[in-house]
Formats: sequence, structure tokens, C-alpha cells
Amino acid sequence: MTGVASSAEAEPRTSRPGPTARERAAAQHHRKWGSPLLVSRAPGRVNLIGEHTDYNDGFVLPMALPFDTAVAASRAPSGAGVEIHSEGFGSVVIDPAVPMDTGHWSVHLRGVCRLLSDEGVNPGPWRATVATDIPAGASLSSSAALEVAVAMAILGLSGFEWAPQAIAKLGQRVENEVVGVPSGIMDQLISASAVPGHASLIDCRSLQSTPVPIPPRAVVAVMDTSTRRELVASAYADRRDSCARAAAALSLSSLRDAQLADLNRLPPSLSTERRRARHVITENQRTLDAAKAMSDGDADAIGALMDASHDSLRDEYQVSGPALDQIVDIARASPGCLGARMTGGGFAGCAVALVNADDADDFCSVVVERFRNSCGLEAAIWLCEPAAGGSL
Ligand code: GLA
Repeated sequence: MTGVASSAEAEPRTSRPGPTARERAAAQHHRKWGSPLLVSRAPGRVNLIGEHTDYNDGFVLPMALPFDTAVAASRAPSGAGVEIHSEGFGSVVIDPAVPMDTGHWSVHLRGVCRLLSDEGVNPGPWRATVATDIPAGASLSSSAALEVAVAMAILGLSGFEWAPQAIAKLGQRVENEVVGVPSGIMDQLISASAVPGHASLIDCRSLQSTPVPIPPRAVVAVMDTSTRRELVASAYADRRDSCARAAAALSLSSLRDAQLADLNRLPPSLSTERRRARHVITENQRTLDAAKAMSDGDADAIGALMDASHDSLRDEYQVSGPALDQIVDIARASPGCLGARMTGGGFAGCAVALVNADDADDFCSVVVERFRNSCGLEAAIWLCEPAAGGSL
């Protein structure tokens, strides 16, 4: 993170104040139980382009954020369950014998423990403290970062080393099988595998990741509208079902293999599915084009593709929301903006813009002020450099 602007300050600051999540998790562990044996960390992400394409076997272009979730862990005396203290949520004891409450904040932790145990990864008695710098519910993948960080801690305690792809797949299974959200692989994969200084073009069919640099004269601005929305999971499942119906009607295993001309083969009764599919087909192409533009250092082209992505998500896929549309419109009309779009699942939370580096400070203060004047909400904007994937 190179800067932040919010209501409290006109000028972007140079970094988040105070100790990092990793330092806080370690300090809390030290206070509670003594020195941790290990500390794992995994970042949140912002997706630059390629939205709602991952579960269609398509392409995504996310980067890791300089915001981590950290887990400080150590061995514990044997007894019932694993005690985990979370800075934000308090303490919980994870006992495999007790049935899981999927509404409880600890469901992601429990899910990782259970699925790793099913895979034969059993660290013996352990305990941990957890801290995070990733805002929850902001579409920055706080859940995926928690899953990756906890999995890395348990694997580390057990003496295992798993490839980032295997860790990401386990995290996705936690979402799909334990939490009950039918999400794709993007969030966990970028959190586990990101290369510092680069976004990653991920082929969600092969899971191959190709690092691509951010153009030198541009900077990524993550814009948190401060809005959060409930029931995102049911809208998400609805979109995913629409895509599956469109693919089935075209006799394809996924929309990855569909072409725009195929849309004419969908019957009139599938008019909604046609719109969803049109977004996925065009978004896959935009994502490939954006990755090429990044390799070419063509920031203007990336910005134009981000604009087109947002318009398609708003009009065809219908997963934007009033605050997201508002901040995207304001960003596009603010100094140095090359392009702006919603990011992540949608409806609320964060948008992302690509901004001329020289104008970035002005951009932040103008967007915050105009957003406040237009809808009375306080946005926070972070200027982010791509961070590294999870590590011990
Ligand atoms: C959420 C999901 C991802 C992806 C995005 C939309 O973040 O967790 O798998 O589908 O929405 O692109």
C-alpha cells in the first residue's frame, strides 16, 4: 500500500499506521501463550478484470493486495479441540466432535481443519491467534485469505508443503462444501500464488498463472464505497446457475468454449441466460486483451477494457449496485483516471481504478470528496502495489 485517502485526511498517507497483521498476531500469541512456532500470512486481492468468469472455466486478472490475514500458531497441550483467538471476533474452540454451525464466524477455520484432516493432515494439538488488515465484506477476499493462511499454518505445523494450487483448491472446497457458497477458484489461487509486483493472468480451466506487470506510469486504486450487502451468496448462485443453463443449452461443458455467434442458438425462453453468457464471453476476451495490454505497457488500453467490463457487469450480468456505479462514474471523471470498474462478486463493497501515477494523490482526494457530496458516504481509497502470495 503506498497511500490511503479517506474522510479524515485530504492527503493520501504513505502507509497504514501501526503494526501489521503479522506483527499483531505474533504479539497476541506471545501475550497469551508465549512465542508462536510459526506465523503464516495470506493477502486479500483486487481483481483488475475478468469478473464472474472463474466458475465458467474462463480467465481472470487479479493481484494480491498489501493487506494480509495472519495466523500465529504453536503446539498445545493435548486436550479437547483447537483454541483460536481472533483479534476481531474473540475466541473459539474447534472440536471436530461438535457439529459445525455454518452461520458462525469460525466456519472457514473449521472447514479448513476438517478438510485437511480428511486429507490426512493432522498437526496434533495446536492453538493460534489470528489478525487481519483486510476489510470484511468489501469484495477483497478476506475469507479466501483466512482459508489460505490457516491452511498454510496447519500444513507448516504438520511438516507438509503443498503447492499453491492445492491449497487454493482446498480453500475453494471449504467455500463450496462447508460454507455453502458456490464460488470459483480465483480468490484462493491469487492469495496463495501471487508474484510481488505483478498481477496474474489465471486460466481457471488449467489453473495456469502468468505474471503480468502493472504499466510503469499507472497505479491501482482500490476504492471502498463503505457499503456492504447481505444475501450476495444467493444472487451469486443465481448467476452461476444461469451460466450453467446457457452452457447446457449450447451442449458445452462451460461458457469458456462459447462464441458470441452461439448466443443466437439460445431459445427466447433463455433471454436472461443469453445476457449472462454475453457478459462471460466478452469478459473473457477483455481479460486476455488486458493481459496483452499490460505486457505491452499500454495503460490506456487496459483502462478502456476496465470501463467496458463494468458496463457489461452493470447492464448484462446485473451484479453492480448504486454505490458501485456512483463511485465508478465519479472515478472516471476524476484526475488521471484511465478506467474504473466494480471488483469481486459485486452489489456493494469495492471498485477499482487504474490511474496515472502522477495524478494519483489528486484522484484520491477528488473521488472521496465527490462521493461524499453525491451520496453522503465516506469512501476509503488505497493506492496499491501488487503484493506476494501467502507464505510462512
Ligand atoms: C467472488 C468469488 C470468485 C469470483 C468473483 C467474481 O469473489 O469468490 O470466485 O467468482 O466473486 O468474479
